[in-house]
Amino acid sequence: MSYFKEHIDKMTGYVPGEQPKDGIYTKLNTNENPYPPSQKVLNSLRDSINGSLRLYPDPIATAARLKIAEVLGTKPERIMAGNGSDDLLSIIVRSFAGPGDKIVFPYPSYMLYMTLSELQNGTPCMIDFTEDYTLPGDFVVKGAKVTFIANPNSPSGTMISPREISRLASKIDGVLVIDEAYADFTDENCVPLVEQHDNILILRTLSKSYSLAGIRFGFCIAREPLIQGMMKVKDSYNVDRLGIVAATAAIDDQNAMKENVVKIRKTREYLTKALQEMGFFVYPSHTNFILARCMDGVSAHNLYSELKKRKILVRYFNIRRLDDCLRITIGTPEEIDLLIKNLKELLLIGVKGIK
Ligand SMILES: Cc1ncc(COP(=O)(O)O)c(C=O)c1O
Repeated sequence: MSYFKEHIDKMTGYVPGEQPKDGIYTKLNTNENPYPPSQKVLNSLRDSINGSLRLYPDPIATAARLKIAEVLGTKPERIMAGNGSDDLLSIIVRSFAGPGDKIVFPYPSYMLYMTLSELQNGTPCMIDFTEDYTLPGDFVVKGAKVTFIANPNSPSGTMISPREISRLASKIDGVLVIDEAYADFTDENCVPLVEQHDNILILRTLSKSYSLAGIRFGFCIAREPLIQGMMKVKDSYNVDRLGIVAATAAIDDQNAMKENVVKIRKTREYLTKALQEMGFFVYPSHTNFILARCMDGVSAHNLYSELKKRKILVRYFNIRRLDDCLRITIGTPEEIDLLIKNLKELLLIGVKGIK
């Protein structure tokens, strides 16, 4: 006998990328930033480790929201902080969708959208991207309560233009969530669309471009009525004291973030060329990772396993449309050179099943 609700029993749950306990891996599997957080962030964290930790944090993370509003040119009333953007995704589903409600998202994309729909006992409407990762004509689902788009998308790294997103926002029922976890690694984003559409929510995270995956801080930008409603749904203290301190300092230090982004974009180009020369098909990436499709006769799974034996972790998804691909996080130039060297060796010797 199970004590759980039937729909919870039926679901498998989200499986995050591997986080090995020992530090001996070259870790290119979960899209973390290879560079450390800004020195200003580390200093403000050190200064905040004191007796004030006995007190609860500011429930609405005012300091961070003021800073975000200043930097992004919006109002603090249009911002809500979360314990990573995963927390905000969960708050959104709980705020706008109930049992049986339609929740729309493209495939393949961030798998958490499916998990959250299942948790809520909603009706997930998973719609295939076209072959080149544009949105298909039937992406608008009548009566949908929530539509998610990761933009740029993970795991493809591809991007849909803000103009097309704006058109979509005018057509759909319910709210449109643009998950911009990787937006700092490209040139365009959808933040200005909040001015034009009362149903758009933009999500950002500090886990990628700001090198703060370990801190757990994300934020949502949307019109005031959406933010006010979602404030009722969140945990009272969903972001801790140190998270607020780190986020405020990180957003304040735009130079540090942008310097790392420049380095990562350069390494991204370098890796793209190297993979193409080896014969991989590389999807155009607007992120801090690359999706590379293996050439005919080469098993992506075996490549992944052989790399792992050599202590290099990349991401392999054993699912439709991705089982012939590797997703590789952009590391430091040294890490990427090590990856390229090992890939070349493996392809050359044709380890059993690879070639
Ligand atoms: C598209 C997308 N959204 C959200 C997240 C989660 O970000 P956070 O660390 O802020 O929870 C990720 C993490 O990999 C992601 O790829």
